[in-house]
Amino acid sequence: ELEQRGPDAHLRMVLRSPNSERTPEDLELIYEDLCMQKALAHLPNSVKRELASVVVFEAHPKLGHTLFRQGDEGKAWYLILHGAVTVETYSKGVVETLYEGEDFGGLALIHNVPRSATITVKEDNTHLLRVDKDSYNKIVRDIETNTVKLKEIGNDVLVLEKSPRLHKYMIIAGTPQKILEHLLEHRLSNTNVAGSRNDPCLDDFLLTHIVFMPTRTLDREYTINCKRKVVQFVYRWVVTIRHPVFDDVVSMSFLEELASDVEADCQLLGGKSQALQEEASLMHHIMSRLRRYQDERLETSGLKWKLPPGGQPICLFTAMNSTSKNSSRSIIRPMDDIIFRVYCADHTFCTLRLPVNATAEAIKVGAYEKCSLRHPVSDLRIVEVKSNGERVPFRDSEHSIPTTVALNSCIFLTPKDHMDALTCVPEQEKSEGAEISGDFESLSTKELAYHMTLFDWELFWNVHEYELIYLTFGRHRFQQITANLDIFLRRFNEIQYWVITEICMSQNISKRTNILKKMIKLATYCKEYYNFNAFFAILMGLSDVAVSRLSTTWDKLPSKSRKQFTEYETLIDPSRNHRAYRITVGKLPSPMIPFMPLLIKDMKFTHDGNKTHVDGLVNFEKMHMLAQTMRTLRYCRIRHLVLDPPVSKNEADVKSYVSCLRCINNERTLMSMSQKLEPRRT
Ligand code: CMP
Repeated sequence: ELEQRGPDAHLRMVLRSPNSERTPEDLELIYEDLCMQKALAHLPNSVKRELASVVVFEAHPKLGHTLFRQGDEGKAWYLILHGAVTVETYSKGVVETLYEGEDFGGLALIHNVPRSATITVKEDNTHLLRVDKDSYNKIVRDIETNTVKLKEIGNDVLVLEKSPRLHKYMIIAGTPQKILEHLLEHRLSNTNVAGSRNDPCLDDFLLTHIVFMPTRTLDREYTINCKRKVVQFVYRWVVTIRHPVFDDVVSMSFLEELASDVEADCQLLGGKSQALQEEASLMHHIMSRLRRYQDERLETSGLKWKLPPGGQPICLFTAMNSTSKNSSRSIIRPMDDIIFRVYCADHTFCTLRLPVNATAEAIKVGAYEKCSLRHPVSDLRIVEVKSNGERVPFRDSEHSIPTTVALNSCIFLTPKDHMDALTCVPEQEKSEGAEISGDFESLSTKELAYHMTLFDWELFWNVHEYELIYLTFGRHRFQQITANLDIFLRRFNEIQYWVITEICMSQNISKRTNILKKMIKLATYCKEYYNFNAFFAILMGLSDVAVSRLSTTWDKLPSKSRKQFTEYETLIDPSRNHRAYRITVGKLPSPMIPFMPLLIKDMKFTHDGNKTHVDGLVNFEKMHMLAQTMRTLRYCRIRHLVLDPPVSKNEADVKSYVSCLRCINNERTLMSMSQKLEPRRT
């Protein structure tokens, strides 16, 4: 009764009156009150004025009344004037209490999905302001709070921000579990799962969850409550991530279990439920993908890779028995064997065969058994000796060493205190490739570009999006390899230094000019084929001081080639974050081979510039940025590369030339070669 008196009493009476009967004075009174509400503070006054004519007052004298339940259709948005309500979910019980000044119920309206929680009045005399769905959508939706924070036991668990473009909330941060829960509840139901329309947040999650939520936690908790959604989710997961899902023991047994669960459901309920049929057909699709993959794996098990003999680790790993045209055949996997050499200080060597992901420790033990060193194993070290003589020791726990060492590097086994005495083996400086087939000048430029592009495409095709994450966050964190990415990046260096080597090896000035011209032509063809990786590598080779200082050679270059080179220089110009290149490729259709080092740089920048966790929550905005870069890879490969083959003169020669480019990558050697060719004029 006390409440009925005083200035509030009049306001309440006005609020209780039907909307159509509110006088301008009434509206003014309500408006003034709305202006004092904390939960509305972010809204412009014009919106509060509009709200004044639609808000409905709702009083709940007794606690315990349930306003709506999880799963109900969303009909209104609420603001608490006085009192409190509880937020409760089926899986967790009461997760939060909301008090005066707080709002709730907007989520279901925005996304047009069922209520994500049950709301119950917690205190006697709880007073609410209600805005019905239609009014909410008309007045508030578009300017409603840009960020929504969901809390559990007083802590933020999910932060969403409205994207004005998509009319959807984007995930800004959250706990791993809440993010997943949110995705399952809000991001699957309205989209056609099998179709191409994909919620960006879901895609972000699929691409990056390994950073903050290992696969083993994507667990069965959700299976029990919402199996159908889990099946939909798993379907997207398999389609997005492909083979790593099947390579993971945990996710494999999860899939098997899920499949047998769904089968059991089908037997129990027969073909009665349409939803169940849909679920079964998605599951069937997943499992047949899995079986196909397993067959393929069986076929290729024991695949071996080798570092070609002759001490030229620059050459690419070639599958020894690659006969069929199987798309995943040439992907390097952790358990594949690799054959490589390990040198001793006296340049004798032994040949080892170990899994790609073998640790430095395993290599050490393997090489120790084969070489005759009089030191105890514990005194020994595995060291990379680069072609410029630099020595890089490996920690015993480091792995996949043969694929990560630099171009023209050799792997050495040495006693710890002898490391500084290691010298390059002669092959590291040798400029002749193992089997040079024909020379650059005699081969058709277009054919070279064609086969280089096919070669690069194959390497690029094998790189998984995850490898970008592994490389950026550190392979050891995931116990994974980045071999396919390493090889592709090494190919970039190989092309770059091959260009410099070819030019510096030509003694005769007119031959040199000719090669320079041919290289520019080669870049032109690569660009026409959208092979930007090779294009950049060639251009960067041509811009290296050892080449650019050869002014006599450049002077003799025909003006057409010169003009073309200048034009290309602007395309590779790194200023304003490689703007010229980004604009150019932004307009091009897939398929293409992107300038890979830039994608790596983008990943590193995002990683270094943004914390993975903020206030204990996963910084999902960072995940979104990472996923954007990862999606670039996907975009480039939406279609498989098919090119018209040029008229072939000597295909076999071109192919073997392309697979083994000769290259010196010691800057000092190249510079002194260059100086001999054209001593500086005084
Ligand atoms: P809606 O899904 O429309 O209905 C339930 C509301 O509870 C939801 O919108 C949010 O406004 C609110 N809510 C607050 N905290 C949580 C939480 N931790 N989980 C789910 N909903 C919450």
